[in-house]
Amino acid sequence: MSDYSIDRVKTGIPGLDELIEGGFPRGDTILVAGKAGTGKTILANQFLYNGAILYDEPGVLVTLEESPVAIKRNMMRFGMDLDDLVKKGLLSIADLSPSKEIARVKMGEYPSFDLSGLVAIIMNHVKKVKAKRIVIDTLSILAYKFRSRDILREEFFKLAANITREGATLLLTSEIPAQGSGLGVFDIEAFLASGVVVLYNEKISDTSRSRSVEILKLRGSKHSSRIHSMRITDEGIRVWPGEISPGH
Ligand SMILES: Nc1ncnc2c1ncn2[C@@H]1O[C@H](COP(=O)(O)OP(=O)(O)OP(=O)(O)O)[C@@H](O)[C@H]1O
Ligand SMILES: [Mg+2]
Repeated sequence: MSDYSIDRVKTGIPGLDELIEGGFPRGDTILVAGKAGTGKTILANQFLYNGAILYDEPGVLVTLEESPVAIKRNMMRFGMDLDDLVKKGLLSIADLSPSKEIARVKMGEYPSFDLSGLVAIIMNHVKKVKAKRIVIDTLSILAYKFRSRDILREEFFKLAANITREGATLLLTSEIPAQGSGLGVFDIEAFLASGVVVLYNEKISDTSRSRSVEILKLRGSKHSSRIHSMRITDEGIRVWPGEISPGH
């Protein structure tokens, strides 16, 4: 009989794996969405850091927004030394942030209807470290290049399919606009992802906000359907599986 059990990729983020039957299904595309400042970049980098340090899974960080220097500095605050991972061959960073001149040139070369150049760059990094986890932070930033939502959907789909073809797990981040639907492409990304994690930082009174996390969908998994308390501590993101967010 065939073995249909799902191999799980642990995030190693305290409390989170309990909500998702132990981890994300291996080889799937997962979307981490939320408004600005909800912790998407931290969660994504914690996923890569834990993968390399705890689970022997090298990773690739594709950064389209923040510079690697800024990300390294921020993660160091949580005791996560990304430079050390790079030195050990456990992490490769594709710097496509606007701060990088070369990135601008390269990005400018892409025809507005095709992401194959981006896929090629990412796959070079994947090969270099034999990556099992890949983070793209954030894909939404590319959306303005596309005039048609149908083409955008198709290109995002091809990109995810190519990157996960050999079994690596892909985590995308997506910014949900603060007001209305705006130019958000969340629905397209959510459609192509087999899992969607939403981060919140909601106002619960005039003077305070409360962070929380929701597993909106996770195909093939009996995941939590509650909204759980989350905090950003000195060790990074932590989730309280037994604690339901006061804001919800
Ligand atoms: N050392 C820290 N300790 C506690 N909280 C922190 C620390 N560093 C950052 N934060 C919180 O995390 C937030 C930033 O998280 P992150 O960069 O992951 O958000 P994001 O969802 O990626 O935002 P954006 O959409 O702007 O990219 C900060 O606004 C701050 O509230
Ligand atoms: Mg971010």
